[in-house]
Amino acid sequence: MTPKPRILVTRATFDDVVAKLRERFDVEDNQKDDTPWGADELRRRLADKDGVLPTGSDRIDAALLDAAPRLKAVCNIAVGYNNIDIAACNARGIAATNTPGVLDETTADTTWVLLMAAARRITEAERWLRVGNWKGWKNDQFLGVDVHHATLGIVGMGRIGQAIAQRAKGFSMRVIYHNRKRLPAKIERATGARYVSLERLLKDSDFVSLNMPYSPSSHHLIGAAQLALMKRTAVLVNAARGGIVDDAALIAALKEKRIAAAGLDVFEGEPKFNPGFLELDNVALAPHIGSATRATRTAMALLAAKNLTAALSGKRPPNLLNPEAWAKRRR
Ligand code: DGY
Repeated sequence: MTPKPRILVTRATFDDVVAKLRERFDVEDNQKDDTPWGADELRRRLADKDGVLPTGSDRIDAALLDAAPRLKAVCNIAVGYNNIDIAACNARGIAATNTPGVLDETTADTTWVLLMAAARRITEAERWLRVGNWKGWKNDQFLGVDVHHATLGIVGMGRIGQAIAQRAKGFSMRVIYHNRKRLPAKIERATGARYVSLERLLKDSDFVSLNMPYSPSSHHLIGAAQLALMKRTAVLVNAARGGIVDDAALIAALKEKRIAAAGLDVFEGEPKFNPGFLELDNVALAPHIGSATRATRTAMALLAAKNLTAALSGKRPPNLLNPEAWAKRRR
């Protein structure tokens, strides 16, 4: 009997997902401790593996790949893949995949929660209430800004951006968007969103939601100059990736009330983040939980498993990121 391919699952996932993987693969997992493995530990564990299911917080770089001579596939359990050095995978004939589609609605929900929480000062009000400050109703207590009938600017109008635009309809919002490429008229009609320049979007929006992948070209896309274009009453929401926003510039803008508030699920250098955020009341914070529902995290893991199963049986994975590598793949 040919031995099963050996795979590494870097972080704990649901037991039924691991059980399913074990049907096909010889699995080394992290179910018990779920300690994030550092570069040395990952290198050691990957040395004899044919495939790996990392999360978005595992760095898969050239040095790691050099220590994994049998590795044929890196199947991220995440839609974002800025943790993977794709060029290094290409050079070594290693397939890389991600999990698009299955987390769009859940991530759009999270974006909406942050938008509403920041607009209506929910996390600030809860902190205040929990420490016993509430002595009675007051006309001007925690006045926020209206979401309904406001203008929402979506930067990055892929699947998640479009799902956010659909939610805005229920709040009678005007939606404008900016994207690398203008979308076909059919999608603009379906989402009710109008294409504008980034500058126009920042000037006109009451809410700005960032929904693009992180790459060198989106690094600090929103910095001091862009924040200065926004309305003083505006709210910025980032449930995409840390690094798209210059966090130090955002903290300064929030502190000086140059914008009203922010809702953030992602940070530069997370899980560490700029402690300046903790000193501010006008920011709603979450620890990168955009796709965190059981159903969605299960769907992501199963899609990553499907990609890995295909890659290790010589079939082109459904969510292949690097066709260049597939043409000269390791066998
Ligand atoms: C993703 O899928 O990219 C989410 O951010 C989870 O890492």
